[in-house]
Amino acid sequence: MSRRPYVAANWKMNKTASEADEFLDSFLPSQSADGPEVVLCPPWLALERVAGRCAGTPVRVAAQNMFYEDSGAFTGEVSAPMLLDIGVDGAVLGHSERRQFFGESDESLALKVPKAIEAGLEPILCVGESRAERESNDTEAVLSHQVLTDLAEVHSDDLGKVVIAYEPVWAIGTGLVATPEQAQEACEFIRNLLRTRDSERAGQVRILYGGSVKPDNAGELMALPDIDGALVGGAALDPADFGAIVAASSAG
Ligand code: 13P
Repeated sequence: MSRRPYVAANWKMNKTASEADEFLDSFLPSQSADGPEVVLCPPWLALERVAGRCAGTPVRVAAQNMFYEDSGAFTGEVSAPMLLDIGVDGAVLGHSERRQFFGESDESLALKVPKAIEAGLEPILCVGESRAERESNDTEAVLSHQVLTDLAEVHSDDLGKVVIAYEPVWAIGTGLVATPEQAQEACEFIRNLLRTRDSERAGQVRILYGGSVKPDNAGELMALPDIDGALVGGAALDPADFGAIVAASSAG
C-alpha cells in the first residue's frame, strides 16, 4: 500500500502574522505539487494570513486545535466552521502540550476527531508516551488507550481520513530523537491497533513521527516501513531547515 509522504510544521506559539509572511516568502517558491504533502500549522493569529497565501499552492494549512461544537458559550475556543471559513484544511488534535498544560483529555478528543472529519477538516491526531511511561514499559498501554479512545467514534469508513502523529513526549524539543527501532516499533504498533478497527483502511492511514526531527535525521526516519512523514516543531520555524526536511521525505 503506497501512502503519500506527509510533512507538517507545527509552529506552536511562534511567529506573528508578519513573521509567517517572511517564512512564506522564502518557503513557498520551493514547493511543488509532486513532492510530499506539506502542511503548515501556524498559531491562531497567523492562520488566516497563511491560509490566504497558501490557497492555490500545493501547501495546505492546519490549526493547532479545534473545539467540537460549532458555536456557543465556549469562551476562548475556535470551531470547525470558523476554520473552514478562512480556508483552513485540517487541525492538529491532542498535541502533548495541550494534554500536559491545558487539560486536553481523551474524552474530549473522542468528540473532536469525528467532528473534524464530519466538518471536512483533516485531523492530525497526536499520541505518545512520557519518559516515565516508557521506562515503566507502559508505552503500548498508553498508545492503545489514546488511539482507541480518541478514534472510538470515527466510522471505519472514515479511518483513512485520519493522520496520526506518534510523538514520544520525551523526544519533543529535547534533541533526544527516538531511535529508528523505537519509532518504527511504536508506529507499527499503532497501525496494528488501527487494523483492529478496519484492516484495509489501516493501510491508508498516514502515521507521522514527531520529536526532534531535523534535516539530518528526517530521511532515515521517513524510510521506515510504518512511518509516512513527520510532524516537526523547532526545525520547522526556519524555511531552509523545513525545506530540507520536506526534500528528505520525498527521497525516503
Ligand atoms: P520538536 O520538533 O521541536 O521536538 O517538536 C515536535 C513537536 O511537538 C511537533 O508537534
